[in-house]
This record gives sequence, structure tokens and C-alpha cells, in this order.
Amino acid sequence: MATRVAAATLLPVLSLLLLLRAGTCADDYSAFVYAGCSQGRYDAASQYASGVDSVLTSVANSAPYAPYANFTAPSDSSLVGLYQCRSDLPASVCSGCVRSAINRLSSLCGWAAGGAVQLRACFVRYGNDSFLGKTDTAVLFKKCGGTPGDAGGVAMRDSALGALVAAAAPEGGGYRAGGSGAVQAMSQCVGDLSAKACSDCVTAATSQLKAGCGYATAGEVYLGKCYARFWANGGGGFSSSAVRHGFGRVFALVLKECNCA
Ligand SMILES: *[C@@H]1O[C@H](CO)[C@@H](O)[C@H](O)[C@H]1NC(C)=O
Ligand SMILES: *[C@@H]1O[C@H](CO)[C@@H](O)[C@H](O)[C@H]1NC(C)=O
Repeated sequence: MATRVAAATLLPVLSLLLLLRAGTCADDYSAFVYAGCSQGRYDAASQYASGVDSVLTSVANSAPYAPYANFTAPSDSSLVGLYQCRSDLPASVCSGCVRSAINRLSSLCGWAAGGAVQLRACFVRYGNDSFLGKTDTAVLFKKCGGTPGDAGGVAMRDSALGALVAAAAPEGGGYRAGGSGAVQAMSQCVGDLSAKACSDCVTAATSQLKAGCGYATAGEVYLGKCYARFWANGGGGFSSSAVRHGFGRVFALVLKECNCA
């Protein structure tokens, strides 16, 4: 286990963000990755407040049955909530992760007009900023690590990441996996993207990892609507650096991560 300091940026829209700490090890599907909250706020007694309750309740109720869904507030068609679980995982993991994400949202983004949280196995976002169905390849969080590898490792990484891009557009789910030699990779899109938009997002994510992770033997990057990770077989997590990113505002994140290989 290593304690690290990382940094992330959030969408201009989700600009107040922050903080975290991952939980314990043992396949920690609910470990925190990042969160962002809008600066706009709503009143506790408003119709908007009941709309937020309604969409987040629908999100929580749907998670045991599907890896992705979106919901619109009954009273306000501009207020939308959605979630996306890693679609290769069982429904029980999805529903537990989403419950935990909603708890994080209410503690981190209380009364914010919009908010998003990414945990290891799920993503939840709500807001009235018209994000549904829109592609978004802004880099929100990125880190590289592991014990430094060599050129052979880089070639395997590139090939494992290439397999994600080449993977046939998955049927409802957006999860892709790839591997080459000792290196594994996976990616996940948010279900509101078309197959083409998902492929474009995964391509952008893998380019970020190739360009920004040097000889690192593990890396992950989270864009607005997809993420990708690679790691060396049997090797675990991230012992080294986090990468800073540059547009919008930067927020300090303190991340504790473990080797849950
Ligand atoms: C979103 O909702 C917040 C809170 O009610 C409000 O202040 C803001 O103007 C809304 N934004 C849009 C784009 O409707
Ligand atoms: C949002 O949810 C509705 C109702 O389930 C569904 O028909 C629609 O395709 C979804 N839209 C997107 C962009 O995911």
C-alpha cells in the first residue's frame, strides 16, 4: 500500500471538486477515484431538490438490474441522472458500488446543481448541464505507476491498448478487455455513447496512456465518458508518480491505493 498525492482537473461544468481516499483492499470496487461538483447550487426546499432525490433514487433502484441507465426528473426535464457500472461485473457489485457512489455524492456535492463521482467499478452523474448523450474526452484523472519497465513492456502495453481500440463495439455495456504477453488492459464507456463515440473515446484514452505513461507498468486515465487502464500481470498497483493535467482548474487529491491484483 502506498499513499500518493495525485491531481485531477474537472470539467468546467463540474468545477468545484475533490478529495478522497480509497478504502481498504480486497478487490475494492467501491474505492474512490475522483469526484466533481458544479458551483451552482440549489435550495433544499426547491423542486430541484426533489428532482435530484428522484433521479438518484431511480439510479439506486435500477443498479441491481442493468449496468447502465439514465433518468429524468419528473418535474424538470433538464435534470438528468445516470450511472454506469463496469459491465463485466455482477449485478451485486454494481448495486453496492452505485449505493456507495450516491453516498459520496451527497457528502461531497451536497446541494450542488450537478455532480459526478467515479469509483473503481461505477460512475454516477447528475445535473442540468445537458451532458446526456454527449461525447466528452476531457481528461479528468490520470496516473501512471508500477515498477519501471522496459521497451519490451511498452510494446506489450501498446499492443494490449491497441486491442481495446480494435475490439468490436460491444453490445450494450461498453466494456472491452485486451491483453498482450504480460500486459492486460480494459476500458469502459458510459452507456449514453453510441458505439462509434465509445470507440473514439477509448482511442483518445489509450493515446493518453501511451503518450503519458513512459515505461510505467500500470496506468489509468479517466475521460469524461470513458476510461482505460493497463497493468502488468501479477503486478499490482501504482507505486510511483501521478500525472498532473492541465486544463480547467486543478484540484489536489490524496489517494490511497492498494495492490488488489
Ligand atoms: C441548473 O439548476 C440550478 C439549480 O436550480 C440553476 O441555478 C441553474 O441555472 C440551472 N442551469 C441550467 C442550465 O438550467
Ligand atoms: C435514456 O433512457 C431512456 C429510457 O430508458 C432510453 O430510452 C434512452 O435511450 C436513454 N438515452 C441515452 C442517451 O442513454
